[in-house]
Amino acid sequence: MELSPANEAAMQDIGTALASALPDLRQRNLLLTLAGELGAGKTTLARALLRALGVTGTIRSPTFTLVEPYETTAGPVHHLDLYRLAGGAAELEALGFRDYRGAPGLLIVEWPERGGLDPDASDLAVQIEYAGPGRRVQLSAATELGRDWLAGVTAHLLRHQVDVVSI
Ligand SMILES: Nc1ncnc2c1ncn2[C@@H]1O[C@H](COP(=O)(O)OP(=O)(O)OP(=O)(O)O)[C@@H](O)[C@H]1O
Ligand SMILES: [Mg+2]
Repeated sequence: MELSPANEAAMQDIGTALASALPDLRQRNLLLTLAGELGAGKTTLARALLRALGVTGTIRSPTFTLVEPYETTAGPVHHLDLYRLAGGAAELEALGFRDYRGAPGLLIVEWPERGGLDPDASDLAVQIEYAGPGRRVQLSAATELGRDWLAGVTAHLLRHQVDVVSI
């Protein structure tokens, strides 16, 4: 699916849609990768998703901590930013990635390529590109879980007549 959020608020609507269609995380693990250049809007999307899952207070970008953990209404969420990961896949393992991925919960990963993560290995891959003053967002599912999730996201956007859809 391809979306065209014209501004930050429209990007947040996509984050809210992702949250609304999320399956119960207490029983499964989901990987959401957010790819795109510096300033594309990855953290904006992640923040809106976390807000919609009941996270209050400051939601820091994991730029320096690399990982920020949350307890949400849907279950545990880990928000990772691999931009500053110097050691690639080995450092990702040292960060506890395998443990996060193996336990119930959602993993949101910005800059997945820095950790050697193939977007095709994620349940749902988001690719954000600059498009004039706005953005172009592509969502693609690589697993059954991801496909169900994406179908729910699409339904949510249509139901709420969010003006970002250009299927
Ligand atoms: N759809 C959009 N249209 C226009 N501006 C947007 C859109 N989405 C987000 N922005 C703006 O882009 C800026 C950068 O956003 P953000 O920090 O989320 O990017 P990022 O991809 O996480 O960057 P980084 O790679 O540094 O982590 C913010 O000022 C935000 O308001
Ligand atoms: Mg960011």
